[in-house]
Amino acid sequence: MKIKNICCIGAGYVGGPTMAVIAQKCPEIKVTVVDINESRIAAWNDEDVDNIPIYEPGLSNIVKEARGRNLFFSTEVDSAIDKADMIFISVNTPTKTYGMGKGMAADLKFIELCARQIARVSTSDKIVIEKSTLPVRTAEALKNILDNTGNGVNYQILSNPEFLAEGTAVDDLMNPDRVLIGGDIDSDKGKEAVKALVDIYAHWVPREQILTTNVWSSELSKLTANAFLAQRVSSINAMSELCEKTGADVNEVAKAVGMDSRIGPKFLKASVGFGGSCFQKDILNLVYIAKSFGLEEVANYWEQVIIMNDHQKKRFATKIVKTLFNTVSGKKIGILGWAFKKDTNDTRESAAIYVTDYLLNEQAEIVVYDPKVKAEQVYADLDYLNTRTEAENRARVKVVNTPYEAAYQTHAVAIMTEWDEFKELDWPQIYEDMLKPAFLFDGRRLLERKTKEKIGFEFYAIGS
Ligand code: NAD
Ligand code: UDX
Repeated sequence: MKIKNICCIGAGYVGGPTMAVIAQKCPEIKVTVVDINESRIAAWNDEDVDNIPIYEPGLSNIVKEARGRNLFFSTEVDSAIDKADMIFISVNTPTKTYGMGKGMAADLKFIELCARQIARVSTSDKIVIEKSTLPVRTAEALKNILDNTGNGVNYQILSNPEFLAEGTAVDDLMNPDRVLIGGDIDSDKGKEAVKALVDIYAHWVPREQILTTNVWSSELSKLTANAFLAQRVSSINAMSELCEKTGADVNEVAKAVGMDSRIGPKFLKASVGFGGSCFQKDILNLVYIAKSFGLEEVANYWEQVIIMNDHQKKRFATKIVKTLFNTVSGKKIGILGWAFKKDTNDTRESAAIYVTDYLLNEQAEIVVYDPKVKAEQVYADLDYLNTRTEAENRARVKVVNTPYEAAYQTHAVAIMTEWDEFKELDWPQIYEDMLKPAFLFDGRRLLERKTKEKIGFEFYAIGS
């Protein structure tokens, strides 16, 4: 079966970059990315590719090459669905904020809406692909909806979770460690659908790295991978606190431990806590699934990863208050970095949001600088917490355009995101501009202690 038309529902951090790369690598396939968010689609179509809604190194060049050739962004969801042979569902699956499973389970309402829309609109057979991260056995529910509300056409459902990380999305998509495809490999139709998707990835991914499994293994592998990754961060962060008490240095410990080939060196960077739209949501979802099967020990085991992460964020904020003579009331504090990691403009679950909220509760005045995050986003993130009024957030938090403004006349500066540019700042100038003693809190182990102390900073870094 040769795929000619792909539709992707959801033009977000996954749908946008993934489809851009598929379009670039498969020029014979027409790829249409649709979304109900009109301003997002307008931004994807902006003549100036620097204005596309997602910042990812290398992405704008790919969009420039493929857009208008075989890559299209549109709000016309129905017609894109109807024309497609293959439909990727790449909509958001946030943690539920209401009802059963509130605060834990994945909210699948957007997924279900997509399934109902596909069923209503389709007049020809479709391969429907779960690209969103979903609870294990969601494909069963999708199939049920598609088969029972549709127009009698045939559906094959595949699971094809996405493993890209933000900030390196293009590279991760171009050179994935593996591509995972789950399908009904016991039936001929299922095998045919799996092959159709394998053939697409095989345009640029070596066949031996394209893994095919049953649907449930594929769905569960995605949650498992994120849980393992987050667990490594929480493990090293747990050790960072012990390092601070004992004179050990967490970077040295991480290096020594990571040189064991069974452990490996990656993902052992101590930090102010992991953020991002995936880790917390996916682990909470895993915990919820385990609980729903009565597996209390399994659920409690994974929940510790989140508990440790919350502790790490709070510990960092508390450290600032304690170090500043137990009060930050009325004191100005500069926050360098708002994104949840470098090289992205995404701020979802960023540690900076929670640390700032904590400091605002202690009546600090906050000044924020991030090279890629806009002021509206900073305010939206704080407003979303509902801790204080929108007017108060605007009165007490200033967002500025340079790191020097963020540090000017502050009592303390805290590094929240590991942007490379923060390493190269004129730190003697920043020291000069700050109130004394000038406190510098490095939540990312980005800066060298010796040189900063030599300038005169009172320096604190996670894990030493
Ligand atoms: P996102 O919020 O950036 O994008 C989702 C988009 O879907 C939004 O633009 C929204 O308007 C659109 N949408 C929702 N319902 C729709 C509908 N019915 N019709 C059309 N459009 C609709 O989310 P994301 O970060 O791209 O994540 C999408 C999925 O991929 C999630 O399940 C997430 O867990 C998973 N995932 C994310 C990442 C990541 O790094 N962000 C990595 C791997 C997997
Ligand atoms: C993650 C997974 O890595 C990716 O495979 C999945 O598809 C989506 O979720 P992402 O959240 O985009 O990707 O970024 P990631 O690089 O995993 O970082 C997540 C958070 O952990 C960031 O806040 C990062 O700063 C933090 N982190 C990561 C650490 O604190 N230390 C580390 O060693 C690694």
